[in-house]
Amino acid sequence: IPNTPLKNKKIMITAGPTQEAIDPVRYISNHSSGKMGISIAHEAAKRGAQVTLILGPTALKPELSSIRTVHVSSAQDMFEAAKTHHKQADVAIFSAAVADYRPEKPATEKIKKDQQVYAVSLVKNPDIAQYLGKQKRTEQFHIGFALETDEGSESAKNKLLNKNLDFIVLNTLLDPEAGFQKDTNKATLIFRNDEAIKTPVMTKEKLAKIILNQLETLIGTTENK
Ligand code: C5P
Repeated sequence: IPNTPLKNKKIMITAGPTQEAIDPVRYISNHSSGKMGISIAHEAAKRGAQVTLILGPTALKPELSSIRTVHVSSAQDMFEAAKTHHKQADVAIFSAAVADYRPEKPATEKIKKDQQVYAVSLVKNPDIAQYLGKQKRTEQFHIGFALETDEGSESAKNKLLNKNLDFIVLNTLLDPEAGFQKDTNKATLIFRNDEAIKTPVMTKEKLAKIILNQLETLIGTTENK
């Protein structure tokens, strides 16, 4: 492995969806496949990083045995795992599609279909990236994602600041080639100094390379700070 800035760096990556129990057999979730996060995990491991992948429920799994995978189900599980691994991490990459809400009181028995209307009350999940953004030490690097259904650069910039990220990767569902379960993606990387890099449509493997190249540049320019 070449001597890249990521060699032996500890990288924590959250990926995939979360599942929020309604009762013992049902849940609320989303369409995330975890593909983007797993691609980043592969590329980082190839560059010599020590990767911990905190992965929500998905059919996909990383191929490289050097990647340590922690399987989680709910947002709260992912939050606990992320808090544990963040302490030792040099880099945290938040690519998971964490459910914003969970059922307030999951039923302990399977819910019967004897009511015409059944209301489930939802409560907010912790924002993992935002919470760990507050714990972030000066030598740590954080990267986040924003998936928007509109143009989205305004809200991505807000997320970059609110979550104390070094840069954010914006995908918009306006692009037919981007987003959930696709093999391709098209993104805008937005930095704290308002610089932005727009990528063409490319595979998620290629986008993972671009994201890690930018991370290496950041590490390289701050290594001796
Ligand atoms: O606020 P929004 O969910 O759009 O932000 C997306 C970014 O925040 C992603 O990097 C995602 O992984 C992270 N996030 C998180 N915990 C949440 C919600 C989002 O880590 N509960």
